[in-house]
Amino acid sequence: MTSTDSDCWGECLDVAVQIARKAGKVVQEAVKQEKRVSSKSTPTDLVTEADHQVEELIISTLREKFPSHRFIGEESSAAGEKCVLTDSPTWIIDPIDGTCNFVHSFPMVAVSIGFAVNKELELGVIYHCLDGALYTGRKGHGAFCNGVRLQVSKEKDVSKALILTEIGAKRDPHTLDIFLGNMKKLLSAPAHGVRIIGSSTLALCHIASGAAEAYYQFGLHCWDVAAAAVIIREAGGCVMDTTGGPLDLMSRRVVAAGSQEVADYIVQQLQPISYGRDDHDP
Ligand code: IPD
Repeated sequence: MTSTDSDCWGECLDVAVQIARKAGKVVQEAVKQEKRVSSKSTPTDLVTEADHQVEELIISTLREKFPSHRFIGEESSAAGEKCVLTDSPTWIIDPIDGTCNFVHSFPMVAVSIGFAVNKELELGVIYHCLDGALYTGRKGHGAFCNGVRLQVSKEKDVSKALILTEIGAKRDPHTLDIFLGNMKKLLSAPAHGVRIIGSSTLALCHIASGAAEAYYQFGLHCWDVAAAAVIIREAGGCVMDTTGGPLDLMSRRVVAAGSQEVADYIVQQLQPISYGRDDHDP
């Protein structure tokens, strides 16, 4: 990386912050209106007109600023665009994370904008649209929430941990048995508790802020984890694959924790749920 690149990523972060705030305002207004809802991969995988509008706003603004950059967006991918991460500077966007929450006006809804270069995550911005918390992280420059530095929980003992997860879109009996079995193992560790808030990105921000010790999920997407992974790492935490190996952004699975010890414990407990990959054709 040259110093010019490094200056450019600083500019990218500033631009991403401005766009996330602007997109967040659109979401704040849209949540008060009637929503037009449809479903994607399964009946519980929801999308609204607002998801499309916000993604279009974010991508068109970024494209104007950075015409040579590439884009991976949740709704563009759902519409059939290839979801492939190359070495080119690439923005990875979830316009409304927590769409089901958005549909119900349940107040856990975020805009998430990640940025990768040479397949390395460089920065992330997550804006909690309904309470105004702005989470930012840039590799080597720390992670912040509304300007206050973030620090993960350093708890090593899972029996003192609060663990977050998300259900994922598959609801067939076999998947639900594995999902509930995984949760049962962690509850009987016994972890202090397990929470599901309906937004992967905001749950991951809670790991970065130290409000919870760990997160795991099968079935999320690259746009749910790209921005948050930078924020968690810069807050001192770890983000890895559910097998214990390095994070594979396209693998649709993740374990994140404040301490390696808690992450390793969770990895050992989890029975996998297969969701395929983001970068494979459907
Ligand atoms: C989803 C939410 C949900 C999680 C899914 C995500 P979306 O994102 O974060 O809580 O379980 O895996 O894909 O569809 O609301 O952007």
